[in-house]
Amino acid sequence: MNVVVPFNRHFKDANQIRKRYRVMKGSAGSGKSVNIAQDYIIKLSDMRYKGANLLVVRKVDATHRNSTFAELTAAINRIFGDRADEYWKVTQSPLKLQNKITGNTVIFRGVNDARDREKLKSINFPKGKLVWIWVEEATELQESDVDILDDRLRGVLPNPNLYYQISFTFNPVSASHWIKRKYFDIEHEDIFTHHSTYLENRFIDEAYHRRMMLRKQQDPDGYRVYGLNA
Ligand SMILES: Nc1ncnc2c1ncn2[C@@H]1O[C@H](COP(=O)(O)OP(=O)(O)OP(=O)(O)O)[C@@H](O)[C@H]1O
Ligand SMILES: [Mg+2]
Repeated sequence: MNVVVPFNRHFKDANQIRKRYRVMKGSAGSGKSVNIAQDYIIKLSDMRYKGANLLVVRKVDATHRNSTFAELTAAINRIFGDRADEYWKVTQSPLKLQNKITGNTVIFRGVNDARDREKLKSINFPKGKLVWIWVEEATELQESDVDILDDRLRGVLPNPNLYYQISFTFNPVSASHWIKRKYFDIEHEDIFTHHSTYLENRFIDEAYHRRMMLRKQQDPDGYRVYGLNA
């Protein structure tokens, strides 16, 4: 099937990078969630990535349904249109997505308490390996949660096209946050960082632009942090 779906150019490098840590900071409306959802659905549908499975993580498990799960199913519908059912099996309880051609699967988890964390240690997929983790609103997690997740990505991969990667998406936070120290304050060959603002999102509407301009006048400091990501 020929996949034709629009992307923002600004995310091109991010979608191609194979480094272990893909860290994507962006102001509200910068296009992070739509981009990453489309990126994963296309990759997971591709036979070249057969054997890949994705774990999606948020602080609170119950918040997946209306955010990450909704984004990923919307991406399936945009990409496959009325043939979505032929290619993807969407399960609501528990939340799960499975590509019917590749067998690649997406599952969703929280890290809110000890029970959640224990569950992360026993994740297994019937086919293939856990290779990708997407942490949405990553700044809500504790640094130790990320280390638990990181530990899950190990072992020799059967398919040479596969690679281990944790992706983080989040809005800018204070300069003292662990995520800044862990990924932005050092340079390392395994770390890719990315910044985006609503100005790079060609799909944002005019009203949103005007709202941000008003914010710039009324609350310049807030605009600098949340609008420009500076
Ligand atoms: N590739 C795209 N194709 C079509 N529309 C898009 C695309 N990327 C972004 N948009 C539009 O821009 C809006 C904002 O994008 P998105 O929700 O991905 O931003 P975000 O960076 O995740 O914002 P937040 O930080 O608030 O979660 C989307 O609701 C959608 O309308
Ligand atoms: Mg988002």
